[in-house]
Amino acid sequence: MLPFQPSTPSMSLLYVEDESIIRETTASSLRMRFPSLGLYSAENGEHGLQLYRKHRPDLVLTDINMPAMNGIVMAQEMLAIDPSAHIIVISGHSDLLYLQDAIRVGVKRYLLKPLDLQLLFETISESLSRLGMERQVRRQEQYIKMLSQAMEQNSTMVAIADSKGDIEYVNGKFSEFTGYSSKEILGRNLRHLHADDAAFAGFDEIWNRISAGKEWRGESTNRKKNGQTYWEAASIAPLFDSEGCISHFVTIREDITKKRKRQDEMDRIQKLESLGVLAGGIAHDFNNILTGILGNISFARNLVNETDQLKVLLDEAERASYRAAQLTRQLLTFARGGKPVKKQVSVRHLVDEALSLALSGSSVQGVVRISQSIHAIEVDAGQIQQAFNNILINAVQAMAEGGTVTVEAENVRLDQGHELGVEPGSYVRISFADEGRGIPARNQKKIFDPYFSTKPGGSGLGLASTHSIITKHGGHIGVESSPGSGTNFICHLPSTGEVFSGSADTPKDGINPDGAGGAVLVMDDESVVRQVTGNMLQSLGYRVTTCINGEQAIDCFKRAKETAAPYLAVIMDLTVIGGMGGKEAAQHILALDPRAQLVVSSGYFDDPVLADYKEYGFCAVMPKPYKVSDLAELMNSLSRSRPGTTAQP
Ligand SMILES: Nc1ncnc2c1ncn2[C@@H]1O[C@H](COP(=O)(O)OP(=O)(O)OP(=O)(O)O)[C@@H](O)[C@H]1O
Ligand SMILES: [Mg+2]
Repeated sequence: MLPFQPSTPSMSLLYVEDESIIRETTASSLRMRFPSLGLYSAENGEHGLQLYRKHRPDLVLTDINMPAMNGIVMAQEMLAIDPSAHIIVISGHSDLLYLQDAIRVGVKRYLLKPLDLQLLFETISESLSRLGMERQVRRQEQYIKMLSQAMEQNSTMVAIADSKGDIEYVNGKFSEFTGYSSKEILGRNLRHLHADDAAFAGFDEIWNRISAGKEWRGESTNRKKNGQTYWEAASIAPLFDSEGCISHFVTIREDITKKRKRQDEMDRIQKLESLGVLAGGIAHDFNNILTGILGNISFARNLVNETDQLKVLLDEAERASYRAAQLTRQLLTFARGGKPVKKQVSVRHLVDEALSLALSGSSVQGVVRISQSIHAIEVDAGQIQQAFNNILINAVQAMAEGGTVTVEAENVRLDQGHELGVEPGSYVRISFADEGRGIPARNQKKIFDPYFSTKPGGSGLGLASTHSIITKHGGHIGVESSPGSGTNFICHLPSTGEVFSGSADTPKDGINPDGAGGAVLVMDDESVVRQVTGNMLQSLGYRVTTCINGEQAIDCFKRAKETAAPYLAVIMDLTVIGGMGGKEAAQHILALDPRAQLVVSSGYFDDPVLADYKEYGFCAVMPKPYKVSDLAELMNSLSRSRPGTTAQP
């Protein structure tokens, strides 16, 4: 049964008769017998034809012998207008010869005079019901045509199978999208539409459900004829016959690959964010501990003789501590949603720096193809360099026998509706292509997950932090790889839309461990940090006072100022649990002495205060963990810029 029944409009009849008494009595009998039938009457063929043209009645009942135009000529004209016109001729015995003409022109029925009313009624009833049926069939045909057109032009894939699941119909979209022609699919079982092995194995469960008369809906991966995998949302619903038995199954499928990719990306970002919160907390404590370890080692190293065997052991311990510090750094990159502190930089400069760092000491060649017209990007240079570095180190590791890594960059515009899920606008597309062993398809989804690594000793944090850095910059990172033919990482970063106009950063001062003397206040809530920093500074020739929070630091500073023995510098921890931290304390101290040299130190190397320290009144940064030579370098530069000296800052 069709769910939609087009309504049948009421029918009409044209009655043509020149004898007015007969016409009127017959017409009134017809009205009484068929009250819902529209009735037009005419007194001759000409008038009849006029009314036919105007009203197109469903049925025509006509006398033959009439003035102006006889019934046969009129019927012929009407049939010329509509070959399916339904005409009944009433013929007297004297007109019998005309009947042959009537049949020749296409009149299908006739009645003889004198008119038997009962027979007339039966004939009309019969004609009306035949016409009604014909009309219904025609409408249903149109309706089916409309449905099949809708099915064919539908943007979803539709397949219809019989009660055994053998496919009887697939629409155009199905063939177009999957690459299977209807010839290749018809007769195959629904089960084989699940080309993916896992989905194929799960089909028994689906079959149990749908053959029990229930609808099934789900999302799964599937494969096109050319082997390409895609995600689809599918539903399979049973259709029932008039006895309530399953006659067919209709399956509707939609390609949701883009949607799934976007969802996967969102899930990944969310996962990284929550992991970041955890990692951030751990890394902070870890850096304090490492400051203790690294500081003491570097301090101890300075106390032993160059030729002492102990020095080798301490060097080894220092290297191990550095590796631990590096790991913490990676962890912190995606910790706490630390916002990148951006400035305009040159893509070429960043790529060159990252390449020289990552390729040094390896047998891998770097090729850079970046034109002069490349636009500048506004990024946290340190973070992006780390991101590029992680990609390049992987490339080097993937080419143990040597090879080439090619870095290319170009300007692109991402318009509304592009596939990357970032804001439309101007971007720089940077690709890093290596000639290594490639990444198997099953791993490609996992490589950005933290702790996913296929390398012995790999932490699996490189690409997780790269992903985090790039997305925090409003960019996108993707990978293209097939085993044996190398890997290509493609980054999109928002660009300024203009060529870089600034200059590269100037190099930092070198280490000058000449120890200058003076008083230093160290504020940190971790005793191990206070102790080791104090020891290191003392070994460099400074007098050291330590305190545990901002309140104490302000106090110490005030007292030192009053006794005319001010501090050369105050090294302050940024975060103090349960007390005033460095950011707030700095404001109070600067209120006492605007020229105070305040150094901010933190385990959160990505904290915006560290990146923008001058804004907060600090004159230098000391990220944890640090060792003696780092402190020496810091103190040298502070001694040179000590208030009252003439040295350059
Ligand atoms: N260029 C590449 N070629 C082949 N495989 C790669 C490439 N880049 C990444 N991979 C794969 O992705 C995995 C994850 O990379 P990621 O950089 O996150 O971690 P890792 O290199 O294993 O460890 P680490 O934390 O030391 O970087 C690698 O173990 C490797 O299997
Ligand atoms: Mg790596």
